[in-house]
Amino acid sequence: MSPNDGDIVTSTYNVAMFNTNNLKKHQLSARGEKLLTSPPLPEYLQEHFARSAKPASTQEYIPMCIAENRLVWDLLQPKMADCRDVPHQALCYDAMIGSQRFREQLTRFMGRTFLGRQFEPEQVAVLAGAGSVLEILFHVLADPGEGVLVPTPSYAGFWEDLETRDELTIVPVHCSSSDGFRLTTEGLDRALEESCRPIRALLVTSPNNPLGTVYSPEEIDQILLWAENARIHVIFDEIYALSVFGQRDFSSCSSVRTSIGERVHIVWAFSKDFGASGLRCGLLVSENEAVVAAVDALAYWACCSGDTQFLLGEMIADDAWVDGYVREMKTRLASSYDLVTAHLGTGDIPFLRAEAGFFLVLDLRTYLAEQTWDAEYRLWRRLLEEVNVNLTPGSACHCGEPGFFRLCFASVDPERAVEGVDRITGVLRKL
Ligand SMILES: Cc1ncc(COP(=O)(O)O)c(C=O)c1O
Repeated sequence: MSPNDGDIVTSTYNVAMFNTNNLKKHQLSARGEKLLTSPPLPEYLQEHFARSAKPASTQEYIPMCIAENRLVWDLLQPKMADCRDVPHQALCYDAMIGSQRFREQLTRFMGRTFLGRQFEPEQVAVLAGAGSVLEILFHVLADPGEGVLVPTPSYAGFWEDLETRDELTIVPVHCSSSDGFRLTTEGLDRALEESCRPIRALLVTSPNNPLGTVYSPEEIDQILLWAENARIHVIFDEIYALSVFGQRDFSSCSSVRTSIGERVHIVWAFSKDFGASGLRCGLLVSENEAVVAAVDALAYWACCSGDTQFLLGEMIADDAWVDGYVREMKTRLASSYDLVTAHLGTGDIPFLRAEAGFFLVLDLRTYLAEQTWDAEYRLWRRLLEEVNVNLTPGSACHCGEPGFFRLCFASVDPERAVEGVDRITGVLRKL
């Protein structure tokens, strides 16, 4: 049977041999400095954790590189405090992919708020964050050495999630700045044809990270059709589904078809839409029974705690609170985005318009000494060292062209975000 020939689950469920070679390559930076290895972190994140832990003697550190929504804690905190009447069952062993009760609460909540229809609790698997879901899902879907298509620029963490222990290779589908990095079927065709390894799946982030854009139902339908023709799985990472603040509504891939079928899988987590990345709760939605069963078989090693399931379950069971929270969360994202983009405009800093997520992409190509990755790196370092502002460089997002930087506007309060933009403007004006 050829790799893409109708077999829905083909990964051999061998012992997951930890690939120490993959980890070793993260132990030294290009400049020979010792790096953290648990988990393997890119340089911009190493700088982030180092600078967050050690307050600068001169200028306060402004982290604009972390996709976190820090604008909503005052909304979450009282509700979380109300959900602390923990039952004994929450302390005990339960289904490793989440208790039946939590999965029922989830299907109701997701059907009502963003999936467009209700799935069965048996079609949901809860794990410790979207990262764990992706890692285990891809372990189930593909074998070491196989390829996964990822449009770029992309969320930087997919490489760690898929390549470290799963030993897959991400085959980038480089989108072009000439049309705002649109994903096209021509681009997908090209990447599939040119890949020297069998392609098992396509992984799409919708809404897009780092572009902060939403896909229309027609665009989603095109992606689904393309993947059907290519006979590969398609995973929609919809982790920012509720964090949409622009004119266009979010459409889940599940709302585009009456059934998503056995080769389409959805990933979501509380990390972004509920500002709770530290709680480590993510989930898979799939109509493929064999895939859910295989994820279940591996779930013991990446469970979400019973306490967290109880807390989040109670929170999302309160429809009126959820609706009020989501409304206010979107309003705050929009107002922070408007403030930051107004300041970018004043500073004449070009950027790509966003309508979802916590970030936007700056186009700093004209500020590069030359159009190279080295020049991009030097500009990123200069912003960090001169004004203590950390952006995500495009290279970390595996962008196909140097000079683009992701700026997270919700990771700090609006005043600090504006201060960050003003500091960036100050450096760019000197170039
Ligand atoms: C698109 C996307 N997927 C997955 C993740 C990882 O989420 P989690 O913290 O739930 O593992 C992130 C985090 O930034 C993300 O942006």
